[in-house]
Amino acid sequence: MLKPIQIKEDLYYIGVNDRTKALFENLWPLPKGVSYNSYLIVDQKTALFDTVDICYSDIFLQKLETALDGKELNYLVINHMEPDHSGSLRLLKTKYPNIQIVGNKRTADMVSGFYGITDGVLVIEDGEQLSLGKHNLVFYLTPMVHWPETMMTYETTEKMIFSGDAFGTFGTLDGGITDKQLHPERYYDEMVRYYSNVVGKFGSPVQKALQKLGHLEINYICSTHGPIWTIPEQISKVISIYDKLSKYEGDEGVVIAYGSMYGNTEQMAETIALELAQQGIKEIILHNTSKRSHSYIIRDIFKYKGLIIGSPTYNNKLFPEVATLLAKIEERDMKNRYFSYFGSYTWAGAAIKRIAQFAESTNFEIIGTPVEMKQSMSLETYDACIALGKTMADRLIQDR
Ligand code: FEO
Repeated sequence: MLKPIQIKEDLYYIGVNDRTKALFENLWPLPKGVSYNSYLIVDQKTALFDTVDICYSDIFLQKLETALDGKELNYLVINHMEPDHSGSLRLLKTKYPNIQIVGNKRTADMVSGFYGITDGVLVIEDGEQLSLGKHNLVFYLTPMVHWPETMMTYETTEKMIFSGDAFGTFGTLDGGITDKQLHPERYYDEMVRYYSNVVGKFGSPVQKALQKLGHLEINYICSTHGPIWTIPEQISKVISIYDKLSKYEGDEGVVIAYGSMYGNTEQMAETIALELAQQGIKEIILHNTSKRSHSYIIRDIFKYKGLIIGSPTYNNKLFPEVATLLAKIEERDMKNRYFSYFGSYTWAGAAIKRIAQFAESTNFEIIGTPVEMKQSMSLETYDACIALGKTMADRLIQDR
């Protein structure tokens, strides 16, 4: 028999850990796995908040049955329809056919489209309430965080927010479920990676959601991934992480992401990095775009204000891995970055022109003079890289 975890009176954690999947959304690496969180409130009426990935339906349904302890399951509140959370819906409905599925009209459309379920769906409006007895739920529609149906559900008695993906992290829950039971520091970088990879394009809707919920007193943040946040300082911290990321605000530091086939272009990156350090910049992160998953490069680009891209010319275009990375940056509508670039070629230069086109499509502040190298590092190229590093450092230091 699998037992749920009682978080507090009336609240059970019914989530599961995925240590098997290699890539989240078949895109983003999961070296530390991921949890799919589901919660149950047991009151006069019972309400489940989201389900889990279909691969874990059996474990999930067993835990749910134990938590219900013979009671009827009255409601499933769907805060988010992406299948890592809605995947067990069809099996849940088969097991509990009288359940009322609670969501907004966009949710109802997806419940029908993904799972063919059209009966027993209770469509709620923004701000509508639902009483479970002692516990009262208020639904806040927060569209495009990061799907159109996304919403958050606030429980008014204990002041708990069921936030969907918001404030979620990669990383399994290895015993500890709440922040009081674990070292929260372990999850912060994975929160930034989750946000930047999955939600990153939607800074403006996230800002709107934060403003909409800003007046609420919150004692518990129950996200669909990662720990439950309960410590007041941790709650403030995770909200401030989301606030900062969704405003595209970076810390002092520079990401240098480059492609290099034989190490020549890499020498340009190294030279720029040396000068940045010489000028007192301590957070300098070099990413070889062929070796490092772009998931981590994007995470770091969200973390730091300075961004420098370098590429060799390949087939009269950008180096393919650099081109892919630039597309991912563009897709996320990145803002507020200081941007510099460098490139190289052997017989005909194209990379630098392509990065210049990319730069024009952003609202980045262009820093320094781009450096173009023919074949290998000359003294002239070296000096130009040093000048680029110095100009970037000066710009960052101005903001101190
Ligand atoms: Fe965790 Fe948007 O799914």
